[in-house]
Amino acid sequence: MFTVAVLFSIYLAVFGLKVPFHGKMEDGISSLREAQEEFLGVDAVEKQKIKPRRPRFYPCEVQFLDSVNNLVEPKDYVNFTQFYSGYRDREEKLYGYDRFEPRFGGHQTLEEREQSFYARNQTIHCGFVEGPEGYPSTGFDLDEKDKLYMSSCKVVVSSCIFGSSDFLRRPTSKLISEYSKKNVCFVMFVDEQTLLKLSADGNVPNESGNIGLWRIVIVRNLPYKDMRKTGKVPKFLSHRLFPSSRYSIWLDSKMRLQIDPMLIIEYFLWRKGSEYAISNHYTRHCVWEEVLQNKRLNKYNHTAIDEQFNFYQSDGLTKFDASDRKTPLPSYVPEGSFIVRAHTPMSNLFSCLWFNEVDRYTSRDQLSFAYTFLKLKRMNPDRPFFLNMFKDCERRALAKLFSHRAVTPPAAS
Ligand SMILES: *[C@@H]1O[C@H](CO)[C@@H](O)[C@H](O)[C@H]1NC(C)=O
Ligand SMILES: *[C@@H]1O[C@H](CO)[C@@H](O)[C@H](O)[C@H]1NC(C)=O
Ligand SMILES: *[C@@H]1O[C@H](CO)[C@@H](O)[C@H](O)[C@H]1NC(C)=O
Ligand SMILES: *[C@@H]1O[C@H](CO)[C@@H](O)[C@H](O)[C@H]1NC(C)=O
Repeated sequence: MFTVAVLFSIYLAVFGLKVPFHGKMEDGISSLREAQEEFLGVDAVEKQKIKPRRPRFYPCEVQFLDSVNNLVEPKDYVNFTQFYSGYRDREEKLYGYDRFEPRFGGHQTLEEREQSFYARNQTIHCGFVEGPEGYPSTGFDLDEKDKLYMSSCKVVVSSCIFGSSDFLRRPTSKLISEYSKKNVCFVMFVDEQTLLKLSADGNVPNESGNIGLWRIVIVRNLPYKDMRKTGKVPKFLSHRLFPSSRYSIWLDSKMRLQIDPMLIIEYFLWRKGSEYAISNHYTRHCVWEEVLQNKRLNKYNHTAIDEQFNFYQSDGLTKFDASDRKTPLPSYVPEGSFIVRAHTPMSNLFSCLWFNEVDRYTSRDQLSFAYTFLKLKRMNPDRPFFLNMFKDCERRALAKLFSHRAVTPPAAS
């Protein structure tokens, strides 16, 4: 036992240090330690040196309907808060900048940011901002034929792999209905590097660009150097990428979809009367804990985390208090690897606002979720936003969970 523990500690030391250089993309699991945490629980990681533990987190039962037959959108489902959002698509050269550099997220001022939280007819920043005429593209370039396909989608399941950070996991085909295979778009965004790697692994798209159910869409000219930030574009901005879609499901690449997407929409949105569904974190509920954990695992530049966190505190972010019956959410820390959305005005606004925080500050979206939600709510007391924060164990029932590519399970466990 002792030898195994020592070997494992050495393994941890070596790979724990190495992992950041692999340039991990997704937020789900970005280091061996976090992978263990997700699979075994925080306590297990802490106690590892003493005694390896069995996994602690299990799926729980979710009462999905048996089949997609006779599924109809409920009549009373569609009267959510209504308003019209326009999106800033171009920015002129700003006064006061010597060397103007167009950015994908634009140059939103703090005043514009403040105004953008009002749920009303207005034009806001929401990614895809181009510079003045003649400037190069700000990124996330897609082929025309992919754009055409994407603009036809009404219901979307999407995911991404950038920088070869993961394997391709196909949805379990036999668990997906014929209806969904015909009517739902399954889109996997990849960069060229990832496509090469997938091909080398034997996953080559067929003539229609599919690998199994996934339609592979190549993204060129990635908008951020930080791949994790780039990953937030498809994660948050599905309403922009799929402009005619009414529903979307986001799946982190570490998950293999095992439930029909229409049953997911029925359960998490229609049945709960909600327009946005996301799970809470499996152990952490307070942003204060999340900040500590991010620093402990060296997830991001500490100064940048502090800047963001201090700003949020000065703008009303409070600690999570489970005993407060007026707390609007079951947790202030989400596990954002699985998101189900109706593309309603409030839901789209929330997605844009959350994206803008990630664009302005760190790519750690768990840090900005509660702040964005609470501020949106505070600034629109008469305009409800129906967010369903479901249990992490339910998330685990939807998809098989894997660790990311660079993480090799330790031989000792
Ligand atoms: C939906 O419509 C019903 C009936 O018109 C109304 O009572 C209810 O407040 C509406 N809900 C929302 C969120 O607007
Ligand atoms: C907002 O825009 C919608 C659609 O363009 C319009 O019908 C509505 O009257 C506008 N609301 C306000 C308050 O201007
Ligand atoms: C490519 O694969 C998809 C999904 O398996 C299938 O529907 C499509 O017909 C295939 N296209 C070609 C040209 O084989
Ligand atoms: C960390 O973030 C701060 C504030 O955003 C920045 O000034 C500094 O250059 C960053 N340090 C590194 C090593 O990137």
